[in-house]
Amino acid sequence: MVEVLKYDVLILGSGLAGLRAAFEAARISNGKIRIAVVSKVHAMRSHSVSAEGGASAVLYPKENGDSLDLHGYDTAKGSDFLADQDAIELLVQTAPQEIKFLDHLGVPWSRDPQGKILQRPFGGMTIPRTTFAQDKTGFFLLSTLYDNTLRFGNIDMLHEHFATSIILENGVFRGITAIDLKTGEFKVILAKAGIIATGGNGRVYGFTTMAHSSTGDGYSLAYRAGIPLKDFEFPQFHPTALVPNGILITEGARGEGGYLVNKDGERFMKRYAPSRMELAPRDIVSRSIITEINQGRGFTDEESGLSYVLLDLRHLGEERLNKRLPMIREISIKTIGVDPVDEPIPVRPAMHYMMGGIHVDLKGQVYIDAEKKIPNLWAAGEAANVSVHGANRLGSNSLSECLVWGHFTGEEAAKYAMTSSTEPGYDGYVKEAAEKEEKRIFDGLLHKETNAENPYDIKHEMNKIMDTYVYVFREKSGLEEAYSSLKKLRERFNNSRIEDRGLVYNQNLKDLMEIDFLLEQAEIITLGALNRTESRGAHARIDYPKRDDVNWLKHTLAFYTKEGPSFSYIPVRITKWKPEERKY
Ligand code: FUM
Repeated sequence: MVEVLKYDVLILGSGLAGLRAAFEAARISNGKIRIAVVSKVHAMRSHSVSAEGGASAVLYPKENGDSLDLHGYDTAKGSDFLADQDAIELLVQTAPQEIKFLDHLGVPWSRDPQGKILQRPFGGMTIPRTTFAQDKTGFFLLSTLYDNTLRFGNIDMLHEHFATSIILENGVFRGITAIDLKTGEFKVILAKAGIIATGGNGRVYGFTTMAHSSTGDGYSLAYRAGIPLKDFEFPQFHPTALVPNGILITEGARGEGGYLVNKDGERFMKRYAPSRMELAPRDIVSRSIITEINQGRGFTDEESGLSYVLLDLRHLGEERLNKRLPMIREISIKTIGVDPVDEPIPVRPAMHYMMGGIHVDLKGQVYIDAEKKIPNLWAAGEAANVSVHGANRLGSNSLSECLVWGHFTGEEAAKYAMTSSTEPGYDGYVKEAAEKEEKRIFDGLLHKETNAENPYDIKHEMNKIMDTYVYVFREKSGLEEAYSSLKKLRERFNNSRIEDRGLVYNQNLKDLMEIDFLLEQAEIITLGALNRTESRGAHARIDYPKRDDVNWLKHTLAFYTKEGPSFSYIPVRITKWKPEERKY
């Protein structure tokens, strides 16, 4: 017998956006509605916990001359003018109150001796406005929100439940199907309203700062249900991931004054962004590092074969490193045996963030096509594309986005559930869809041939393709090569095997479904990149080196078809900041 659970609001994902949404839904409903947070990991292992650098907000306009307009302008320019500017305005207006709200909840923001909340410089931000808690901001934000959501009596935390499908009936959200990983039990979780907050998909790539769990499940679940993905050709490459393991070395390290140097000991950023140096936006710093490496001014790690430059923090001194960047020091010492107090550390760009995502409106409500919305489904955080980052996100804008749109979507979904009288029922189309899904997994996937392809080999090959051809610089021939190789991998994947036939914690089955999602997303990223014949933000085409506002100042929408993604385009909303040449 399938277990059927019923809720008013179902939140898929337990990172910063998901927990902020749960908190808000619980708060405004005052205990009147039942809320489920469904997560494939324990909530405190969501990838937000790894966020290091901080959250952006204008906190001290009178003292440091900052303004909402300046934060908005920096963000629009950083985005290479692909962001929707009404969404940016909403972000910058709402972020300060979210920082203060989290302060009141108990986040231990780093402070000066007088107790004032500190802010550090970040790339592309004219004024220091990144609010931080040492270099463990994600941990402190997530644990504070988690502890506080537990205070409400009306939130069920369904940890370690892997969602396998989203059920939409005639454009209306009904719920999800999921496997309880602890027992292998198949569950149908129905709700009046839903929020997708499943985070990003770093694991499409091999060299990434993101957790192994970052497989973009929400993107594929939505896409397969007919929901378009927006601007998916724009993964962000963070300039400084530790070589060889890819662990994030926060931009805060450069914010605190760290230098990037090449083989000749030269601070090479003077050639690429003389006014901002190491604190230029991420797309520019990443391209500069790869250019240095390509022109023979990098180093190579013998064992991994990875090329890199150095991040020098020595001049900051031991005391400052221990106070502001203790985790960076610990990570370097423990994982590569280098103490940044004594030696520079090896870094290179890594996939860090997906700037594209589920197409949503200003309040996070999900579209089913370019214009029509699903009445009872929202998405927030990295899973969504409300379009505040455009073609290049400024560091620290994403934690603020998670808080702002977690808040909005939690509020909207709770309001919807409180006024809707339609109880979700397990019958008709919903029952049929759930039964079909149960069969697909338990009669199909779980009984795949054992002498067929190894799915982990396929994942590894996909990672290599993406790291090689769909990285910081791209061009037509490489993208075509990547696309045709991905197609072949898909064929092989369809014939891949599963070793573990058990039900209890079957990681093999979960991994198989994740690799299926990743392959699909790799294809959308690659085809979108092949189509976009210009360079904008993180999408740098060697064969089309210039931004082309006449033809490409538009968002990409990718729709699911059996043959592969089909694309259409919608306009960018420009309000205040007209596109201009981007110089730093
Ligand atoms: O470098 C960092 O700490 C990352 C921050 C971000 O991606 O916003």
